[in-house]
Amino acid sequence: MTSPENYQTYRGLPALAGLCSMQRAVESNWSLDESVSRLKRLHYVLKRLHETLTARLTAEPIYELKTAFAHHAYLFAEHVSLIRQRVGEMREPPLGLDKVPHPALEAWLDEIIAAPTTPALLVAVYQHAVRAVLEACQRLQRDAHPLADAPTVRVAKWMVFELQEVADYGDQAVACLVDQDEEPSLQPWLEHLDRYLAAAGQLDGTQDELGEIPDPWQNHPPYQYQAEPQRDERFSDPYNAGVNPEAFLYDESYTARDKTLMMYYKRIREVDVPEMMASILVDLKDEEPWPFHMEMSRQLWDEARHAMMGEVGFVSQGLDWQKIPINFTWSRNLNLQLDARERHGVLFFIEQGLMPRTGKRYEFEIAHESGDPLAALFQDFDWADEVLHAQIGRRWYVPRYESLNEALRYGDACWSKVLSHWQQYLDQGLTEHRNWWPELYAEACRRWKQTPDPRALAFNENYANSRADLEKLQ
Ligand SMILES: [Fe+2]
Ligand SMILES: [Fe+2]
Repeated sequence: MTSPENYQTYRGLPALAGLCSMQRAVESNWSLDESVSRLKRLHYVLKRLHETLTARLTAEPIYELKTAFAHHAYLFAEHVSLIRQRVGEMREPPLGLDKVPHPALEAWLDEIIAAPTTPALLVAVYQHAVRAVLEACQRLQRDAHPLADAPTVRVAKWMVFELQEVADYGDQAVACLVDQDEEPSLQPWLEHLDRYLAAAGQLDGTQDELGEIPDPWQNHPPYQYQAEPQRDERFSDPYNAGVNPEAFLYDESYTARDKTLMMYYKRIREVDVPEMMASILVDLKDEEPWPFHMEMSRQLWDEARHAMMGEVGFVSQGLDWQKIPINFTWSRNLNLQLDARERHGVLFFIEQGLMPRTGKRYEFEIAHESGDPLAALFQDFDWADEVLHAQIGRRWYVPRYESLNEALRYGDACWSKVLSHWQQYLDQGLTEHRNWWPELYAEACRRWKQTPDPRALAFNENYANSRADLEKLQ
């Protein structure tokens, strides 16, 4: 008699396309309802964690955490999209993905986003919440029927693979940034967070619901987005707008090699783009559908990558980026002076301006000509990313306006009305707008064993009267 135990495949080939054994496949304790219900809870939690890291990025001073938040928020967004697609395969619309699956989960995530300090946020997001998501994905991978619900198993497996790396990053970050004597003080709050999960029957609802939903933690106010960017102590003089890199870059008379240095600066300065884009995502949270948030999160992460390419560029040249001012007044002025639609307009106008021949292609050609292979590699990919970003803008920004030209005009006008506060920052003693270029260039020339070009050494153009696209300010 054939039984699951003695079932034979052709010459002992793995059964069932390698999904699982016949013994496992005859188990019937799984259902489509259960699959959808667990996925919907994971979807909600990952969406909120994506919002959390995005929202906390702007005012997080530590550069390495800003870039990590951008990366992990993007991964969570990818997971959200995977789950949405899978739920859409199992259910007819409306899918109900915008509903809160359990009030305890909502209260739990409201607590986490309001974490009062960076250490508290790191512990709560990475060691508490991401661990809980990871365990729920592992349970889903194990419990879902491997044949009937194979697509869900695959989604769960993929999330486990990526979330394990996120959790490991979190452990390392906590080890670096949370003092031994600080950890016990976080314990009561973490236990408080555990009570929300208990009340929800755990993240995926696989346990009995235990206890009431706790009241909000007394010691900190509800979360409010901080739009003013913050930088850590390595970013000295961030109000400094004493060098205009574009004026140097587009001047034919300087050499390609010298221009790569300015391009590495432009790249690392791009850490201001995630700081600004986060504010668009926060402010347009419910006004735009999920695909908007997905694509803009990808772009936000790309901009963080561009900043890190600049960081790597400096290291590759043996230069210390901490010695020069990495300006943050672009993100600061936009976040404090414009609304989200206006900021999006400026972003699109700038990115669209990168497409013609003087934009990204020009930077790529300069980098190739320079003889610095790393600059060539980075500019090649930077260009590719910017093409994607222009497309994202055409999908999500341009259709709000009557034509492409109208959309561009609006973005240009919004940028024009931003006050650079060049003089104000000077008068307030926040910066002297020191021209830092000659010292950086001289140091690079020493490294390159090259005599500085006297004209390049004397370069002295700032942002007092012009924007980054060299348009004159009123
Ligand atoms: Fe970029
Ligand atoms: Fe971009």
